[in-house]
Amino acid sequence: MNQNVPSYTGDIAEQHIDPSQEYSAENQEIAFSAEQHAIWADLFDGVHQPYLLEHICQEWKTGMELLQLNPQGISTVAYLNDRITPRSGWQIERTVVRYTMADDWYKKFAARIFLITDYLRTRDQMEFTPEPDMFHDIFGHLPFLTQKFYADIEDKFAPAYLKATQEEREVIKRLAWYSTEFGLVVQENRFKVFGAGIISGRKELTRTIMEFYRLGRDNVIDFSRPVFAQLQAHFLANKTNLHRIIDGVNALHQKGEMSSADQGWNVVLSLYQNLGIKQEGMFGGEVIIAPFDVEIIARIPKTVYAFNPMLFVCESLETMDAILDSYLKPIAERA
Ligand SMILES: [Fe+2]
Repeated sequence: MNQNVPSYTGDIAEQHIDPSQEYSAENQEIAFSAEQHAIWADLFDGVHQPYLLEHICQEWKTGMELLQLNPQGISTVAYLNDRITPRSGWQIERTVVRYTMADDWYKKFAARIFLITDYLRTRDQMEFTPEPDMFHDIFGHLPFLTQKFYADIEDKFAPAYLKATQEEREVIKRLAWYSTEFGLVVQENRFKVFGAGIISGRKELTRTIMEFYRLGRDNVIDFSRPVFAQLQAHFLANKTNLHRIIDGVNALHQKGEMSSADQGWNVVLSLYQNLGIKQEGMFGGEVIIAPFDVEIIARIPKTVYAFNPMLFVCESLETMDAILDSYLKPIAERA
């Protein structure tokens, strides 16, 4: 087994590349190769399809209009800042670090600096990459960052993180993971994708959308009635089994068995089998969709190297904001 097996926090094991080679204010722009621009164009085209876009939340689409990303190639940092800073006050900075440790990252975050890596995935990672590359950073996050509501959400994490205990920091990272990275939201009485990690990964996006369809197909959710109330009811009725599955996910992480996309693909189905949980209803799919809940999220690690076995939905983005506040604000306001 390779040595990059994550500890069960789910963090990427080590920071790649020497931070002493970091970009400065003067050298933010890079000349990308023709092949890198071509990879960008293919990634862009792979997600920018009407049958996928209809499942992404409205705010991302609004942000895409505002940001006007070039489908054919990688935008410059100056171009991105011209469209983002006047709208939300945030600034984009290039980093040489391929995976920034949370402590450094949150310090930048506190100063409203959003880091984008200079690394772009390779051709063999077109559908899944465990590392957040610049396609993830730019295409997944930056359309949102043109808007104040998203800046407000992002503004919550760093002040709390910097005052939190080690244990709380882990919870904060999970809350960020299951909201801005892998969150879902209800809009127009449908489940929509909000998280940048899903939006920027064609395979995880498709897999998530397939789950939305399955919930309707298997009569778990009746889409002609309010969907969030139904999801909440399923969650309450199945809480015990959900906890068993979360314990199972934790055990797999600790054994290092959540460390590749291949392993992650069938995790949930094999958990049902091993735990003797009937594969039906809310447990029928390859990903379990549950209401966004701090207590549950605190118990489930981030799955970085494989597909997430569980995703969480907020009734609206206002609700997401309020739930995040309920945990983060008291910590941020500590003396
Ligand atoms: Fe991200």
